[in-house]
Amino acid sequence: MRTQVGIIGAGPAGLLLSHLLHLEGVESVVLEERGEDYVRQRVRAGVLENTTTDLLREVGLGERMDREGLVHGGISLRFDGADHRIAFEELVGRNVTVYGQQEVVKDLIDARTRDGGQILFDISETAVHDIDTDRPRITFRDADGQPQELVCDVIAGCDGFHGPSRKAVPHEAYDHTYPFAWLGILAKAAPTREELAYTFHERGFALYSMRSPEITRLYLQVAPDEDIKEWPDDRIWAELHTRMAVDGESPVLEGPLLDKGITAMRSFVATPMRHGRLFLAGDAAHIVPPTGAKGMNLAVADVRLLSRAVTQLLQHNDSRLVESYSDTALHRVWKAEAFSWKMTSMLHVSPTADAFQRQVQLAELRYTAGSRAAMTAIAENYVGLPW
Ligand code: FAD
Ligand code: DHB
Repeated sequence: MRTQVGIIGAGPAGLLLSHLLHLEGVESVVLEERGEDYVRQRVRAGVLENTTTDLLREVGLGERMDREGLVHGGISLRFDGADHRIAFEELVGRNVTVYGQQEVVKDLIDARTRDGGQILFDISETAVHDIDTDRPRITFRDADGQPQELVCDVIAGCDGFHGPSRKAVPHEAYDHTYPFAWLGILAKAAPTREELAYTFHERGFALYSMRSPEITRLYLQVAPDEDIKEWPDDRIWAELHTRMAVDGESPVLEGPLLDKGITAMRSFVATPMRHGRLFLAGDAAHIVPPTGAKGMNLAVADVRLLSRAVTQLLQHNDSRLVESYSDTALHRVWKAEAFSWKMTSMLHVSPTADAFQRQVQLAELRYTAGSRAAMTAIAENYVGLPW
């Protein structure tokens, strides 16, 4: 098989890259190890930056998002038994949209299918070769277990944190782990709030989010090695009520669970994001803890840059943008890392913090909620920094 751009991974990064390249007249094939149903249903992130929604609209992917997505003009920080709103629209004139990552993925798969794009699901044994040449190759087994080879001009490693691409790029790794994790649930219960609430409580962080007028998404800080079996539904609900209540009133409405899982918290950056003709994008190159809602948005920002760089290379034989891709992407990545680290540190109870650090953390929260400057800094990061 032959294509211009071989894309490993059908997450938001790989699928959007394939769509953007198609709009520029560049051909690609997406290779995905999981099955299509699994990829369409995988529950993950939920908040789209204003920069992301602008881009999705611009490239013809905004129709269902604008119909079904929930536009939020702010978020709340909850601590000291009170709700403190950060009004994005008033502070920076922008907003965010709550629209599940799997909905973005479904829209992308549908668009690629409609446009005749090739996505090969259920592949295995993916390996990259000859990335130092201008004919890099990907070998794999197709859904029937037959060995295949895809010869490309460029390979995009969009295969997430555990995929093989990053291992093929000599890089320096910046890695930071946190002494906690998130237990997330998706519940068939109508949200009682119109916006997200990030809660700091002495028992740990909790997040109130949603997916639709019928579905609530909730998270609890738990230990990094937490066993999900220790968390029957009743315990989860009780803990959510305790952490999120203000004046004894819990915003949480209970309902049947549709999904339940534990997400590790990590900050990770691989630099550079390119070796020869292999380019990394999204989680393959970097991970943020979820508190800033940046993971999927960063993947989108990477492939926006990468699609332009690859188009310039393949259609105009101009390598300037591919040469600068890694540096340009990493500038945004590190700002998102900084913001995600700050939100995470401010809102979680760290088992390793001493009494002094705990007081500083409270002071930081109180300062933030009382300062237009501090709230503006959160608002401009949360809605997405300009490209
Ligand atoms: P991915 O979505 O990981 O896509 C990579 C794709 O590559 C996958 O489909 C994978 O199956 C495929 N792949 C892997 N290896 C191979 C291979 N060898 N061959 C072929 N294909 C391969 N972010 C938030 O902001 N909020 C959240 O609540 C949140 N929750 C998360 C929960 C979990 C469990 C995880 C893992 C991530 C979460 N994130 C969250 C982060 C966010 O979902 C990611 O940043 C986003 O998915 C990045 O998109 P991506 O396309 O780069 O990677
Ligand atoms: C969601 C996830 C996040 O990581 C976040 O910061 C906000 C919302 C969500 O899944 O809805």
